[in-house]
Amino acid sequence: MKGIVFTEFLEMVESKFGYTLVDQLLLESNLPSGGVYTAIGTYDHHEMITLVDKLSQQTQIPVPALLRAYGQYLFVTFTKAYGSLLKQSDSAFSLLSSIQHYIHVEVRKIYPDAELPHFVVEQPEENHLRMYYQSERKLADFAHGLIDGCLAHFGEKATVTQTNLVDDGSQVLFDIVKE
Ligand code: HEM
Repeated sequence: MKGIVFTEFLEMVESKFGYTLVDQLLLESNLPSGGVYTAIGTYDHHEMITLVDKLSQQTQIPVPALLRAYGQYLFVTFTKAYGSLLKQSDSAFSLLSSIQHYIHVEVRKIYPDAELPHFVVEQPEENHLRMYYQSERKLADFAHGLIDGCLAHFGEKATVTQTNLVDDGSQVLFDIVKE
């Protein structure tokens, strides 16, 4: 997992809970990287799971809620860091439909070792999008937050229903219906 995902996560924790908690998380998590991340470096994604688990213990906020909040936060970072990739989309559905074949393709050009999920997207009706998420990293709650962030970016409202297609969480359907 790329360093930007970690550095932004620690920034979110600092802004929401303060620097003391960041310090405590890094001390208690015993991370192979020592908790020292650079934006272009690559680190084991299990370190993210460890950090989120510890944060959940400290704050009593469930892990899925933390991952979702983090997805919302990171989308705002993406709009600033990768604004040029968003220019091609004029709505949330057009952006969400372009992740697999455009956005993440460009991301891979920047970071050849990026670990990206696979999406299949269907649009049965104008106000209805289905996204099938597939990833061994099982970060669907994080994806949910990115979808929320994308809708908020375009000032759109929708109901997002998340359904596990297999028990381990590696395949998940997002059913998105615009209001
Ligand atoms: C401008 C928009 C976007 C950019 C620049 C972007 C870029 C990235 C980057 C850099 C990573 C980390 C790869 C790694 O750590 O190795 C990532 C992972 C991921 N992205 Fe995107 N992304 C964008 C939009 C989205 C959206 C809207 C979704 C929502 C469905 C999404 C879903 C994910 C997920 C779930 C992961 C985690 C890896 C996994 O689940 O296997 N991305 N993306």
